[in-house]
Amino acid sequence: MKAIPTREQLEQLLSEPTEAVVETLGSLRGDILLLGAGGKIGPSLARMARRASDRAGVTRRIIGVSRFSNPDEEAGLQVHGVETIRCDLLDEVAVAQLPDVPNVVYLAGFKFGSTQDTARTWAMNAYLPGVVCRKYRDSRIVAYSTGAVYGLTPRAGGGSCESEPTQPLGEYAMSCLGRERMFEYFSRAWNIPVALIRLFYACELRYGVLVDLAQKILAGNPIDLGMGCFNVIWQGDNNAMTLLAFAHAASPPFVINVTGPEVLGIREVSETLGRLLGKKPNFRGTELRTACLGNAAKAHQLFGPPRVGAEQLIEWVADWVKRGGENLGKPTHFEVRDGRY
Ligand SMILES: NC(=O)c1ccc[n+]([C@@H]2O[C@H](COP(=O)([O-])OP(=O)(O)OC[C@H]3O[C@@H](n4cnc5c(N)ncnc54)[C@H](OP(=O)(O)O)[C@@H]3O)[C@@H](O)[C@H]2O)c1
Repeated sequence: MKAIPTREQLEQLLSEPTEAVVETLGSLRGDILLLGAGGKIGPSLARMARRASDRAGVTRRIIGVSRFSNPDEEAGLQVHGVETIRCDLLDEVAVAQLPDVPNVVYLAGFKFGSTQDTARTWAMNAYLPGVVCRKYRDSRIVAYSTGAVYGLTPRAGGGSCESEPTQPLGEYAMSCLGRERMFEYFSRAWNIPVALIRLFYACELRYGVLVDLAQKILAGNPIDLGMGCFNVIWQGDNNAMTLLAFAHAASPPFVINVTGPEVLGIREVSETLGRLLGKKPNFRGTELRTACLGNAAKAHQLFGPPRVGAEQLIEWVADWVKRGGENLGKPTHFEVRDGRY
């Protein structure tokens, strides 16, 4: 497919389950609740869980929990058969009243503004997991983490593997390692099956590193080359791998990197985008020796390779951005190297 013409077609593709997801959700027992469902990933992930469960012939509730700062996301979920509950997860009384369910996806987090509000960063990223484990100690939990827990790795090495030591840079990444440690602590203490997803840059057409690059090129803004390279994964593939991870949740936690197989050069990708957009990119700085890079070979071996490759995604993004398609206004700040967001 050369292009994705409309928002509805985009959302259909992002939430299209694979056969493996249909099978996994067919054999999973009970309802699924998503904490932090109102962000960039939650809506299409919840919708995929709905579609896969329906296709598997399983009757279950899919419940999205968030403050729903964007009420459109709440309405969108309801239209597609996802129940919603408004809740500030830092309100422990409200968390205690959430429905008990056997399956939880944990998406809540705090990144942008974390340098200004360090206390909130640690409360959201490292304290809240303990509150959630207490509430859902009888459930199975798939929790998002981030590739940022590894710190920067030599570009030549092809990206950090799960077995490598973590070296988080800055309070955001440190607090995300805290999130992992709390899930691990309670998983071990209470035998909670947990899967930790170390995600490196999901991307669709309304946000992601490729969208940031395309927008900078169109606006004539300089692109910082320092980070040198990056990985991305089509958000539809990230969604599928997240739901497949339910079958691997374990105590102690199952840890997996999720991203695409390609190591993408910022310069090369920008030049390709520039050609597609009909505008030459401006660069500043030079490529440094290290980058935030993940090796997701384990995920590709277990779950299969992504359905959408980087080349296809680049074409879709260029077409969408060129046509002035919707943007979430949530830049990734992929160029940040000191961990300060
Ligand atoms: N997207 C990526 O490429 C990426 C990459 C690496 C790691 N991750 C991880 O994956 C997770 C999900 O990613 P995402 O991109 O969907 O993140 P996101 O856009 O930040 O979404 C998380 C959502 O959680 C909700 N939330 C935050 N604080 C809350 C609170 N106190 N109570 C209730 N809800 C709260 C917010 O929605 P409301 O305002 O509606 O409450 C927020 O939009 C994140 O935690 C992040 O660490 C994502």
